[in-house]
Formats: sequence, structure tokens, C-alpha cells
Amino acid sequence: MTRGSVEISLAELAARVRKRAAGHTGRFVLGIAGPPGAGKSTLARGVRDELNLAAGTGIAEVAPMDGFHLTNAQLRAAGNLVRKGEPDTFDAGGYVELLRTLRASAPGVEVPWPTYDREIHEPVPGGVVFDRQTIVVTEGNYLLLDDGDTTGWSAVRPLLDETWYLDVPRPIIEQRLIRRHMRGGRTMEAARTKVAQSDLPNAGLVERTRTTADLVLRKSGRHYRIC
Ligand SMILES: Nc1ncnc2c1ncn2[C@@H]1O[C@H](COP(=O)(O)OP(=O)(O)O)[C@@H](O)[C@H]1O
Ligand SMILES: [Mg+2]
Repeated sequence: MTRGSVEISLAELAARVRKRAAGHTGRFVLGIAGPPGAGKSTLARGVRDELNLAAGTGIAEVAPMDGFHLTNAQLRAAGNLVRKGEPDTFDAGGYVELLRTLRASAPGVEVPWPTYDREIHEPVPGGVVFDRQTIVVTEGNYLLLDDGDTTGWSAVRPLLDETWYLDVPRPIIEQRLIRRHMRGGRTMEAARTKVAQSDLPNAGLVERTRTTADLVLRKSGRHYRIC
């Protein structure tokens, strides 16, 4: 343990969520925010898997914000393809509406949720279907963005029962994002340009939301550190 901070395992994080969700009426929504490449999707899947393992049944599922990327055709038509990933290149209103539906519907009622395919670089309608799950782990860059309604993200926060911010040093996200873009088909040079001109400015917007989260986490070896 580092002085002044507490280390917590994935299983302990999941136990915290389960405790908070118990006694909650309707579906409980955990929101995980953080800059691109922070490891949000990885953490969300980890928490989901720990919750389901401990319960012995599927009580949790992930609802990625990334499923609400506008399609490449929509972005191209608006001349925004090069800005893909910025706050207004997602359907924030659609995300908010479906999150509301998920909260309002009884477990057992099917709610299809879109995912994002990193091979074809497009959203996949109904990529995951919520059914009996009572815990929703939603994750994405802009969950805590309060931009005074310009892009619609400020409507998200009231729909989250608990919020975590996943913090990560800039050099690490830079490396991870360059690698991710190269895996997605970009040359090293194109990957570096995308990171410098798009991902890092987006990370800057997200980093300003850090102080508004209920819990700030950093990966520390096999565990996480509460900051
Ligand atoms: N704790 C971690 N340690 C090392 N690499 C990680 C960790 N979490 C995620 N990664 C890697 O970093 C990249 C980004 O992770 P991801 O979960 O997709 O981030 P995000 O959803 O925040 O963009 C992926 O290649 C993933 O395998
Ligand atoms: Mg992700």
C-alpha cells in the first residue's frame, strides 16, 4: 500500500457495488469515466465478471458509451469524420434516453444496447441485450462532462447511482492509444497524429471531470488504488 492511499482488488470493488446495489429499487447504474485508453472497458468487464462470479448468476452487464458513436456515414456527411471521438460525434441524446429506459424497465424485460466494433470501426445495434441483470456498468469518456447542455452529456450524471473516474498518467495513455490505432489499421505516423490532434485534447476535457466522481481509481499492479 502507498502512504495516503488505499489499495483495493477488483473483487473488493465488485463487493462495494453489490452492497450499494442491494436494497436499491430498480436497476443500479455504476458509471465509469476517464480519458480514452485509461482502461475503462477493461475495468467495467472486470467488475461485471466479479459481480457475476460472486453471485453465481448474471446480475451485471456492461453498457458501453462507445455504442453511441455516430456511424462513419453520418460523420462523413457532416464533414466530421476526422473529429471522431470528440463529444459531439456521439449520439449523447440516444445514450441518455436508453440509459433512462434501462433504469425504468423491470429486470426481465429485454433492452438491447449498442456496442462498438473496433475492427469495422462502427457501432453495432443491439450488440448486448439486457434482460435479468439488475446492475448496469456503463463506461465511457464523457459520462461526467458538464458542458452546459451544448452536447447533451450533462444529462447523464443524474442517471448514475455511483461514479468512478479511472485515472492514468498521460504517457501511458499515449502509448496505449498509438498501439490501439495501429491495431485498428493506422500507420505509426497516422496513429501519432490522431493521438496528438484528437485523443489528447479529448483527454484534457475528460480530465477536468475527475474531481466530480465519487471515487478516483488508479491501477496499481494487480489491484487499484483509491486516490
Ligand atoms: N490495467 C491495465 N494494464 C495494462 N494495460 C491495460 C490495462 N487496462 C487496459 N489496458 C490496455 O489498454 C488499452 C486500453 O484499454 P481499454 O480498457 O480499452 O481503455 P478505455 O476503454 O478506457 O479506452 C487496451 O489495449 C487494454 O488492453
Ligand atoms: Mg473503451
